[in-house]
Formats: sequence, structure tokens, C-alpha cells
Amino acid sequence: MIIVPGPASRELGHEIAKQLQAKTVDTFMKRFPDGEYYIRFETEDFQGQDIIIVQTTAPPQHESLIQLFLMADTAADFGAKSITAVVPYFAYARQDKRFLIGEAFSVKTMVKLLESCGISQIITVNSHNPKVLETFNVPVKDLSAIPLLAEYFKKEGLVENAISLSLGKKALAIASEADSILKGGFDYVPTQRNKVTGKVTLEERKLKVENHDVVIFDDIISSGGTMAKAVKMVKEQGAKKVYAACVHPLLVGNAEERILANGAEAIVGTDCVPSKISVVSVAPIIVEALKERE
Ligand code: R5P
Repeated sequence: MIIVPGPASRELGHEIAKQLQAKTVDTFMKRFPDGEYYIRFETEDFQGQDIIIVQTTAPPQHESLIQLFLMADTAADFGAKSITAVVPYFAYARQDKRFLIGEAFSVKTMVKLLESCGISQIITVNSHNPKVLETFNVPVKDLSAIPLLAEYFKKEGLVENAISLSLGKKALAIASEADSILKGGFDYVPTQRNKVTGKVTLEERKLKVENHDVVIFDDIISSGGTMAKAVKMVKEQGAKKVYAACVHPLLVGNAEERILANGAEAIVGTDCVPSKISVVSVAPIIVEALKERE
């Protein structure tokens, strides 16, 4: 097995290789004056090898996607036996169906493109809708980083008997997963997504959070609007310490400030998306998934 730490996930890729004691092949990358990418592997010795490309596709997602297409197709040209793409944050996953007539089914298009570049397996982490990913030709394994996030709160002693909340009833499994570690009980804040704008709004709901520590879990924090409103609601209902936790801290614009300004103690994220709050590494779960496939 050869690990290729892609430009968007170099640190995570090297950490995975270290834990697996696997060989790595680095990429040299540059941009042409018109913005196009040039990618070169430091070897072309991929003949008969299982190649694992680690490349997240967080913003700037189009750059990361193009780099991933170039790396995969080149590895295929050089005789890779199989190509697995470890894509911790899978771009376009939120457009997981045609909500309105005439819309692109974007996540399907992304998987088709990856397949056409020779990728035979995809590993993602808390992808927005893992069920829909199972319907495509390329097998997709979706891992959960929620236990790692919950363990972090426990290990660092940040909360006591904290209530785990999910954003949306559909995501209640996330809160339940976290509660298996934090053990303070779990619940959800009801959400609704506008089909035209994609904007998520919260519905007021009385929660049993008074005088309790709370951790609000979400798969993604993008603009931070949803999380900021949830933090505010929970604080107004008398919660003690409130933390925001997410797998994919996209943190677009002033997301971090918005959430903190509404009363969160801190935001904790994973290195699925490298950022200054990505303190939890998903390397252990990816290593396990890669070991299982051997
Ligand atoms: C929604 O479907 C996701 O789980 C997140 O709640 C959403 O993407 C967060 O978006 P924002 O941070 O822009 O409110």
C-alpha cells in the first residue's frame, strides 16, 4: 500500500502513513500563470500497487477536486492496481438529490467524475447523506468522527455529564453516538432547510438543558448561522457551559466569531478540514478502515 498525501490533506496523509507504517509518495504541485494546476508524483512506480490518495475537498473545493482528479488519473496511468480516495470532507455532498425541477444532482456528478479517473473506492467521514452515496457504482465507506469528538471533551475534562444535542431530528443518531461517551442524555434542536436558498432555520423547542453542560454536534459548520442560533437558544434556556462541535469546520467568513458571540465556550473540529480549531485527528478511524480492507 502506498499513501499519497494530497496537497489539501498533507498532514493527515502523513499521519495515516505513519500509523500504518506505509510508504508515502509526495506530489509536487504548482500553478501556471492562468491558474491551472500542474501535478507530478515524485515516482511513477505504482505498478501493481494499492494507492491511497488522501485529499479533502473543503473550500477551495474546486481546486482540491481538480488536484484529486489529476492525482487519481495519473496513478491509474502508472499502473496502480487499485485507487482508494480518502476524502474526509466530500464536497457537494449536501446537494444529495434534486430538490427542485431541473437541478443538478451534484454529489452524483462528483462520484461519477472520481470513478472516471480510476477511483475504485471512496472513504469519507460523516458525509452529509451516506445512504445516497451507497447508491452509486463506486463503493463508499462513510466513517464517523463523532466518538472521537466526544472523547476529546471527556479527555480534556471540558464538560460534566453534558447533554449531547444534534441539529435536526434526522441527525439524532449523532447525538446518541456522542451520548454513548458523554452519558448526560441526548436530544435534538429541530431544523428546517429552505429548498430554494438552502438556508437552515431553527424551530424553538423546550429542552431539558437548564443548569447542564451542553455539547451541540453538527456534521458541518459553514457560515456558522445554524450553530450560532442553536447556542443562543440553549443558553437562553439556562444551559451552563455550551460547546459547539463539528466534524467539518468550514468556518466561512466570520462563522467562528458568530458562534462565540452567541455564548459558546469554544468550537471543536476535526482535521477533516484543516483549521485552527481542528484539534481532533480522524487518522485513527481512517487507519482502521484501511486495515480492514487488507
Ligand atoms: C445542514 O444540512 C448541515 O448539517 C449543517 O447544519 C449546515 O450545513 C450548517 O450550515 P451553516 O453553518 O451555514 O449554518
